[in-house]
Amino acid sequence: MLSNSLIEKDRSHYFHPMVPIRAHEQRGVTVLQSGQGIFLTDVEGNELLDAFAGLWCVNAGYGHESVVEAATEQMRRLPYATGYFHFGSEPAIELAAKLAELSPGDLDHLFFTLGGSDAVDTVIRMVRYFFNARGETSKKHFIALEKGYHGSSSNGAGLTALSVFHDKFDLPMPWQHHIASPNPYRNEATTDAEIIAQGVANLKAKVAELGAENVAAFVMELVQGSGGVIIPPVGYAKAMQDTCRELGILFIVDEVITGFGRTGPMFACEHEGLTPDFMTTAKGLTSGYAPMGAVFVSDRIYQEMADAVPADVPFGHGFTYSGHPVSAAVALAVIKLYEGGLIENSKKVGPYFEAQLKTLAEHPVVGDVRAKGLLAAIEIVTNKETKAKPAKDKNVAGRLAAAGYKNGLIFRAFADDVIGLAPPICITEAEVDLLISRLRTTLDTILDIEG
Ligand SMILES: Cc1ncc(COP(=O)(O)O)c(C=O)c1O
Repeated sequence: MLSNSLIEKDRSHYFHPMVPIRAHEQRGVTVLQSGQGIFLTDVEGNELLDAFAGLWCVNAGYGHESVVEAATEQMRRLPYATGYFHFGSEPAIELAAKLAELSPGDLDHLFFTLGGSDAVDTVIRMVRYFFNARGETSKKHFIALEKGYHGSSSNGAGLTALSVFHDKFDLPMPWQHHIASPNPYRNEATTDAEIIAQGVANLKAKVAELGAENVAAFVMELVQGSGGVIIPPVGYAKAMQDTCRELGILFIVDEVITGFGRTGPMFACEHEGLTPDFMTTAKGLTSGYAPMGAVFVSDRIYQEMADAVPADVPFGHGFTYSGHPVSAAVALAVIKLYEGGLIENSKKVGPYFEAQLKTLAEHPVVGDVRAKGLLAAIEIVTNKETKAKPAKDKNVAGRLAAAGYKNGLIFRAFADDVIGLAPPICITEAEVDLLISRLRTTLDTILDIEG
């Protein structure tokens, strides 16, 4: 009864992101009600293993009282304080200092946003400001990777290279460009070295085509999440960073998914010792308990921008909720959990998760299994040799999502027949076993996809 009335209200009034609008109205909403650890319970009482951590954000898992208490305490004491006009709040200041301490390289300055999309937009604005202030006013073009996702704001969605974010939205804009994704599974290059060389050559060619004096920055995810969890070879990002430095363009890393223990270390930059000029984060920053993003700005860029702002003119960028004290208090409490054992757990359970997931490679419909820490994907094919994809009318993604749910498992069923996995990083080895067993049962439901 409760569920029915919610479904009706939802159908009539709730305009959802990332669903076919009419199909959602017809299907009706699935209402989630509570969570504990890595498990969710829906309004019908079904218990589900959340192998996608909400939207790859609830890294710490559900139900942490310390986070609830930190938020409650802060809300009671001071629910809001602006960061404008020289004001600030204790948790936002402490959080900036903590993140600077944890950050790779000299990413010592923090600008707070509400999530990942406005973090990307903030970087775009800062990059423009930086080059204009330096007098390099022709540097306007941005380059990103095919299959990349950098949010769905008006500017960021054009750096994203997924067609549903472009079609009918008049994107990408003329200053937004893309080069091939370093997808090891579907690539003419067969070795890591070849894929890396290909990436460097593509970036150099694009910059040459546009003119280095016109290119501002190159942006990439360290694992391409929404594009299907595409994992570039180790060394790829470092080679791209080196190429950016050689060409005089800024190197931006988008760690909105990979940050905060998702791939093992606190930041995926640590795998290759990267020192980007800007880094965007969100999601795991608060483990999804409250909205917040953070842009990490390197000291070199910050100092030049700070000197460029006239003494009597404010830096014209900000949001009402930049550095929101409740979100900041939540982030501090969550980071305590990460440092108190969850990062160690991710580093320990990640390899076990990968090893167990690889046992699914033998399954008849599985073409590829790929993982970096607790971020993984399974790509479905109808032929392991040719890597042929199932026919669209087989509705593989829709069927997998429905079968998974029935088997007590939530994951991301990408439209192009890829299963995305990103369980909370508090997951235990026994819970990984349960996840794999439910996944295997789910895969068995699509054995008819051939032909
Ligand atoms: C790599 C990356 N960048 C940016 C975003 C946008 O973040 P948000 O949805 O918080 O705006 C996302 C969201 O999934 C993301 O995966």
